Amino acid sequence: MSNTAVSNNQLTVVDRQGAIHDLEWEPDQTMMEALRDNDLPILASCGGTASCATCHVFLEQEVFDTLAERSEDELELLVEAESYRECGSRLSCQVGFSRDLDGATVTLAPED
Ligand code: FES
Repeated sequence: MSNTAVSNNQLTVVDRQGAIHDLEWEPDQTMMEALRDNDLPILASCGGTASCATCHVFLEQEVFDTLAERSEDELELLVEAESYRECGSRLSCQVGFSRDLDGATVTLAPED
């Protein structure tokens, strides 16, 4: 019998005070859902439809580079944020589960 269970990713999250949180990211969650469901202060007021930017995070360059390009909608929202970084800024609701992100460090962007 084969084991079809998919294991979770591990994420290290740096909050806005610089505190470190280790959490498990389940395969059926977006990154935003993993952050929110682990009680990190992500407002996610639009519920993940890329229209509020309150789920803004920074990813390390090597992690950022493994992801697909940001959509036009995502980029439009991000560039309006004061803390926008051309390399690293993502809306966490637009980042789907990927094995490549196991062990990644995610930093919460300041609230604008
Ligand atoms: S939750 Fe609103 S843009 Fe991501």
